[in-house]
Amino acid sequence: MSCCAVLPPVVEAHRGASADYPENTLCAFQAACAAGARWIELDIHQCADGELVVMHDPTVDRTTNGKGAIAELTLAELRTLDTGSWKGAEFAGEKVPTLEEVLALVQQAGTCLNVEVKKFARPEAAGRLTDLLRAYAPTEGRSHVVSSFELEALLQVRAQDPGVPLAFLSSKAGGVKTAIENGFPWVHLHFGAVNADTVAAAHAAGVKVMTWTMDRTDRFAHYTRLGVDKVCTNRAARMLAARAAVLA
Ligand code: G3P
Ligand code: CA
Repeated sequence: MSCCAVLPPVVEAHRGASADYPENTLCAFQAACAAGARWIELDIHQCADGELVVMHDPTVDRTTNGKGAIAELTLAELRTLDTGSWKGAEFAGEKVPTLEEVLALVQQAGTCLNVEVKKFARPEAAGRLTDLLRAYAPTEGRSHVVSSFELEALLQVRAQDPGVPLAFLSSKAGGVKTAIENGFPWVHLHFGAVNADTVAAAHAAGVKVMTWTMDRTDRFAHYTRLGVDKVCTNRAARMLAARAAVLA
Protein backbone atom coordinates (compact mmCIF):
# COMPACT_ATOMS: atom_id res chain seq x y z
CA MET A 1 0.00 0.00 0.00
CA SER A 2 1.68 3.21 -1.18
CA CYS A 3 -0.22 5.83 0.84
CA CYS A 4 -0.07 4.90 4.51
CA ALA A 5 -0.38 2.20 7.07
CA VAL A 6 -4.16 2.26 7.68
CA LEU A 7 -6.67 0.54 5.43
CA PRO A 8 -8.34 2.88 2.91
CA PRO A 9 -12.04 3.70 3.37
CA VAL A 10 -14.66 1.38 1.97
CA VAL A 11 -16.47 2.88 -1.05
CA GLU A 12 -20.27 3.29 -0.94
CA ALA A 13 -22.32 4.09 -4.04
CA HIS A 14 -24.59 7.06 -3.26
CA ARG A 15 -28.10 6.39 -4.67
CA GLY A 16 -26.38 3.67 -6.74
CA ALA A 17 -24.06 4.60 -9.60
CA SER A 18 -25.89 7.90 -9.69
CA ALA A 19 -23.42 9.99 -11.66
CA ASP A 20 -24.12 7.87 -14.75
CA TYR A 21 -27.56 6.32 -14.09
CA PRO A 22 -30.86 7.67 -12.74
CA GLU A 23 -30.49 7.81 -8.95
CA ASN A 24 -32.18 5.24 -6.72
CA THR A 25 -33.20 2.92 -9.56
CA LEU A 26 -32.54 -0.77 -10.14
CA CYS A 27 -30.26 0.02 -13.08
CA ALA A 28 -28.19 2.38 -10.90
CA PHE A 29 -27.92 -0.30 -8.21
CA GLN A 30 -27.03 -3.02 -10.73
CA ALA A 31 -24.31 -0.78 -12.19
CA ALA A 32 -22.88 -0.11 -8.72
CA CYS A 33 -22.76 -3.84 -7.97
CA ALA A 34 -21.17 -4.52 -11.35
CA ALA A 35 -18.50 -1.90 -10.61
CA GLY A 36 -17.61 -3.84 -7.46
CA ALA A 37 -19.27 -1.67 -4.80
CA ARG A 38 -19.74 -3.65 -1.58
CA TRP A 39 -21.96 -0.89 -0.16
CA ILE A 40 -24.85 1.08 -1.64
CA GLU A 41 -26.69 4.03 -0.11
CA LEU A 42 -30.37 4.66 -0.88
CA ASP A 43 -33.30 6.69 0.48
CA ILE A 44 -36.71 5.36 1.50
CA HIS A 45 -40.22 6.70 1.96
CA GLN A 46 -43.51 4.98 2.79
CA CYS A 47 -46.21 5.21 0.13
CA ALA A 48 -49.97 5.50 0.75
CA ASP A 49 -50.62 1.75 1.04
CA GLY A 50 -47.65 1.11 3.32
CA GLU A 51 -44.89 -0.18 1.05
CA LEU A 52 -41.37 1.23 1.51
CA VAL A 53 -40.18 2.66 -1.79
CA VAL A 54 -36.82 3.99 -2.87
CA MET A 55 -36.63 7.66 -3.79
CA HIS A 56 -34.78 10.66 -2.40
CA ASP A 57 -37.39 13.43 -2.43
CA PRO A 58 -40.73 13.25 -0.59
CA THR A 59 -42.46 14.00 -3.90
CA VAL A 60 -42.11 12.32 -7.28
CA ASP A 61 -41.86 15.65 -9.11
CA ARG A 62 -38.10 15.90 -9.73
CA THR A 63 -37.25 12.34 -10.74
CA THR A 64 -40.38 11.05 -12.49
CA ASN A 65 -42.90 12.14 -15.10
CA GLY A 66 -45.57 12.44 -12.37
CA LYS A 67 -46.50 14.82 -9.63
CA GLY A 68 -47.42 14.42 -5.97
CA ALA A 69 -46.30 13.29 -2.55
CA ILE A 70 -45.14 9.68 -2.21
CA ALA A 71 -47.13 9.41 1.04
CA GLU A 72 -50.32 10.12 -0.95
CA LEU A 73 -49.66 7.75 -3.87
CA THR A 74 -50.27 3.98 -3.85
CA LEU A 75 -47.63 1.56 -5.02
CA ALA A 76 -49.71 0.83 -8.12
CA GLU A 77 -49.81 4.55 -8.92
CA LEU A 78 -46.07 4.91 -8.35
CA ARG A 79 -45.44 1.95 -10.66
CA THR A 80 -47.03 3.78 -13.58
CA LEU A 81 -44.33 6.47 -13.41
CA ASP A 82 -41.13 6.67 -15.43
CA THR A 83 -38.17 7.44 -13.18
CA GLY A 84 -35.45 7.11 -15.81
CA SER A 85 -36.23 9.58 -18.59
CA TRP A 86 -35.27 12.69 -16.58
CA LYS A 87 -31.69 11.39 -16.65
CA GLY A 88 -31.65 10.34 -20.29
CA ALA A 89 -33.83 8.80 -22.98
CA GLU A 90 -31.87 5.54 -22.74
CA PHE A 91 -33.28 5.06 -19.23
CA ALA A 92 -36.94 5.44 -20.22
CA GLY A 93 -39.21 2.92 -18.51
CA GLU A 94 -37.29 2.62 -15.23
CA LYS A 95 -39.78 2.10 -12.42
CA VAL A 96 -39.75 3.29 -8.81
CA PRO A 97 -38.22 0.35 -6.90
CA THR A 98 -39.47 -1.04 -3.62
CA LEU A 99 -36.93 -1.51 -0.86
CA GLU A 100 -37.68 -5.23 -1.00
CA GLU A 101 -36.68 -5.42 -4.67
CA VAL A 102 -33.37 -3.73 -3.97
CA LEU A 103 -32.68 -5.94 -0.96
CA ALA A 104 -33.23 -9.00 -3.15
CA LEU A 105 -30.92 -7.61 -5.83
CA VAL A 106 -28.04 -6.77 -3.49
CA GLN A 107 -28.36 -10.07 -1.64
CA GLN A 108 -27.51 -11.80 -4.91
CA ALA A 109 -24.52 -9.50 -5.44
CA GLY A 110 -23.18 -9.72 -1.88
CA THR A 111 -23.57 -5.96 -1.39
CA CYS A 112 -24.82 -4.26 1.79
CA LEU A 113 -27.22 -1.32 1.99
CA ASN A 114 -27.07 1.93 3.89
CA VAL A 115 -30.82 2.63 4.08
CA GLU A 116 -31.42 6.31 4.75
CA VAL A 117 -34.77 6.98 6.40
CA LYS A 118 -35.93 10.48 5.53
CA LYS A 119 -38.85 10.34 7.98
CA PHE A 120 -41.35 7.66 8.95
CA ALA A 121 -44.72 8.98 7.80
CA ARG A 122 -46.53 6.41 9.95
CA PRO A 123 -45.33 4.50 13.05
CA GLU A 124 -45.62 1.00 11.50
CA ALA A 125 -42.99 1.86 8.88
CA ALA A 126 -40.09 1.14 11.27
CA GLY A 127 -41.42 -2.38 11.83
CA ARG A 128 -41.82 -2.98 8.11
CA LEU A 129 -38.20 -1.86 7.63
CA THR A 130 -36.76 -4.15 10.31
CA ASP A 131 -38.84 -7.10 9.02
CA LEU A 132 -37.34 -6.59 5.55
CA LEU A 133 -33.79 -6.22 6.88
CA ARG A 134 -34.16 -9.50 8.76
CA ALA A 135 -35.65 -11.28 5.74
CA TYR A 136 -32.79 -10.15 3.46
CA ALA A 137 -29.87 -10.20 5.90
CA PRO A 138 -26.50 -10.35 4.14
CA THR A 139 -24.28 -13.39 4.56
CA GLU A 140 -20.75 -13.60 6.01
CA GLY A 141 -21.62 -11.80 9.24
CA ARG A 142 -22.20 -8.47 7.49
CA SER A 143 -25.21 -6.21 8.18
CA HIS A 144 -27.17 -3.54 6.42
CA VAL A 145 -27.05 -0.14 8.17
CA VAL A 146 -29.94 2.27 8.78
CA SER A 147 -29.07 5.98 8.77
CA SER A 148 -31.03 9.17 9.31
CA PHE A 149 -30.74 12.86 10.10
CA GLU A 150 -33.78 12.24 12.33
CA LEU A 151 -32.70 10.84 15.71
CA GLU A 152 -36.30 9.86 16.42
CA ALA A 153 -36.42 7.64 13.32
CA LEU A 154 -33.28 5.80 14.43
CA LEU A 155 -34.72 5.26 17.90
CA GLN A 156 -37.92 3.87 16.34
CA VAL A 157 -35.80 1.36 14.40
CA ARG A 158 -33.91 0.41 17.57
CA ALA A 159 -37.22 -0.12 19.39
CA GLN A 160 -38.27 -2.60 16.69
CA ASP A 161 -34.91 -4.39 16.49
CA PRO A 162 -31.98 -3.43 18.74
CA GLY A 163 -29.64 -5.46 16.52
CA VAL A 164 -29.80 -3.16 13.48
CA PRO A 165 -26.58 -1.07 13.14
CA LEU A 166 -27.53 2.62 13.17
CA ALA A 167 -25.83 5.73 11.81
CA PHE A 168 -26.53 9.32 12.76
CA LEU A 169 -26.33 11.60 9.74
CA SER A 170 -25.11 15.15 10.22
CA SER A 171 -23.55 18.03 8.37
CA LYS A 172 -21.97 19.24 11.61
CA ALA A 173 -19.12 17.99 13.80
CA GLY A 174 -21.61 17.83 16.68
CA GLY A 175 -23.10 14.76 15.02
CA VAL A 176 -20.24 12.76 16.56
CA LYS A 177 -21.52 13.59 20.06
CA THR A 178 -25.06 12.47 19.18
CA ALA A 179 -23.76 9.18 17.78
CA ILE A 180 -21.66 8.55 20.90
CA GLU A 181 -24.43 9.49 23.35
CA ASN A 182 -26.84 7.11 21.66
CA GLY A 183 -24.39 4.24 21.28
CA PHE A 184 -24.58 4.19 17.49
CA PRO A 185 -21.78 2.32 15.70
CA TRP A 186 -21.59 4.90 12.89
CA VAL A 187 -21.65 8.63 12.32
CA HIS A 188 -22.19 9.76 8.72
CA LEU A 189 -20.72 13.24 8.36
CA HIS A 190 -20.77 15.72 5.53
CA PHE A 191 -17.21 16.05 4.22
CA GLY A 192 -17.12 19.64 5.47
CA ALA A 193 -17.26 18.34 9.05
CA VAL A 194 -14.62 15.64 8.63
CA ASN A 195 -11.16 16.41 9.97
CA ALA A 196 -8.54 14.82 12.23
CA ASP A 197 -10.38 15.97 15.36
CA THR A 198 -13.82 14.64 14.43
CA VAL A 199 -12.39 11.31 13.27
CA ALA A 200 -10.28 10.98 16.45
CA ALA A 201 -13.25 11.80 18.70
CA ALA A 202 -15.46 9.26 16.97
CA HIS A 203 -12.84 6.53 16.91
CA ALA A 204 -11.94 7.10 20.58
CA ALA A 205 -15.54 6.16 21.38
CA GLY A 206 -15.58 3.21 18.97
CA VAL A 207 -17.75 5.02 16.40
CA LYS A 208 -16.90 4.58 12.72
CA VAL A 209 -16.96 7.53 10.32
CA MET A 210 -18.51 7.64 6.86
CA THR A 211 -18.25 10.85 4.82
CA TRP A 212 -20.70 12.06 2.16
CA THR A 213 -21.01 12.94 -0.63
CA MET A 214 -17.46 12.93 -1.90
CA ASP A 215 -16.91 12.79 -5.66
CA ARG A 216 -13.29 14.02 -5.73
CA THR A 217 -11.14 10.99 -6.34
CA ASP A 218 -8.04 13.13 -5.72
CA ARG A 219 -9.17 13.40 -2.05
CA PHE A 220 -9.29 9.64 -1.48
CA ALA A 221 -5.71 9.42 -0.16
CA HIS A 222 -6.50 12.31 2.23
CA TYR A 223 -9.46 10.41 3.72
CA THR A 224 -7.28 7.33 3.98
CA ARG A 225 -4.70 9.28 5.98
CA LEU A 226 -7.45 10.64 8.25
CA GLY A 227 -8.59 7.09 8.97
CA VAL A 228 -12.12 7.61 7.62
CA ASP A 229 -13.90 4.25 7.43
CA LYS A 230 -16.19 4.78 4.44
CA VAL A 231 -16.59 7.27 1.58
CA CYS A 232 -20.02 7.71 0.00
CA THR A 233 -19.87 8.88 -3.61
CA ASN A 234 -21.94 9.34 -6.75
CA ARG A 235 -18.93 8.06 -8.72
CA ALA A 236 -18.42 4.60 -7.26
CA ALA A 237 -16.44 3.11 -10.15
CA ARG A 238 -13.97 5.99 -10.21
CA MET A 239 -13.62 6.03 -6.41
CA LEU A 240 -13.04 2.27 -6.40
CA ALA A 241 -10.23 2.85 -8.90
CA ALA A 242 -8.77 5.48 -6.57
CA ARG A 243 -8.99 2.96 -3.71
CA ALA A 244 -7.19 0.36 -5.80
CA ALA A 245 -4.45 2.90 -6.53
CA VAL A 246 -3.98 3.57 -2.80
CA LEU A 247 -3.74 -0.17 -2.15
CA ALA A 248 -1.29 -0.80 -5.03
O1 G3P B 1 -25.91 9.42 3.20
C1 G3P B 1 -25.58 10.72 3.00
C2 G3P B 1 -26.45 11.49 2.07
O2 G3P B 1 -27.20 10.62 1.29
C3 G3P B 1 -27.34 12.44 2.79
O3 G3P B 1 -27.83 13.44 1.98
O4 G3P B 1 -29.56 14.54 0.64
O5 G3P B 1 -28.03 12.94 -0.43
O6 G3P B 1 -29.79 12.14 1.11
P1 G3P B 1 -28.86 13.23 0.77
CA1 CA C 1 -29.38 9.87 1.16
